[in-house]
Amino acid sequence: MNVPTRSKEREVTAISSQTATTATGALPVVEGIVVHGDHRGRTIGFPTANIDCVSTSVADGVYAGWYEGADGLRHQAAVSIGVRPTFKDPIPLRLVEAHLIDFSGDLYGETARVSLVSQLREQRRFDGVDELVRQLTADVDACRRLLGRAG
Ligand SMILES: Cc1cc2nc3c(=O)[nH]c(=O)nc-3n(C[C@H](O)[C@H](O)[C@H](O)COP(=O)(O)O)c2cc1C
Repeated sequence: MNVPTRSKEREVTAISSQTATTATGALPVVEGIVVHGDHRGRTIGFPTANIDCVSTSVADGVYAGWYEGADGLRHQAAVSIGVRPTFKDPIPLRLVEAHLIDFSGDLYGETARVSLVSQLREQRRFDGVDELVRQLTADVDACRRLLGRAG
């Protein structure tokens, strides 16, 4: 949920998470191959695994979730689903991107399975990269809190 305020922190969306569930009550899962993106994420300190999953019925937004790759290990992840409105791509592509928390390594080409636990907020347009990075830092903190509890 977006809760804009007029304070200095106005760009950092307040975290009020909602459990992400499907109609059957199960956690939504997104599965696909990790493909190359624009590699912008690395330059801003938040590399992401772009997951090629032609379409997903999961709503656009930012989620806390678990990423499981080919080695079967689970990683905490901050997940973005949407068109990245900040960057006004001429042909907006809807992407599923997972930032694996406390991880660095090459994931390209593996099949990834991402289970979404909670929706943190909507996708939004930021006025610049600094604002985006501040929000991503808050998102990752929220994921640690939520997923730490969820184990
Ligand atoms: C947790 C998370 C939340 C994000 N939220 C937004 C958002 O609200 N608006 C937006 O334009 N992009 C958002 N993004 C996407 C970033 O803009 C994107 O990851 C970044 O541009 C790097 O993409 P690239 O490595 O594919 O180039 C988010 C990414 C992550 C990992």
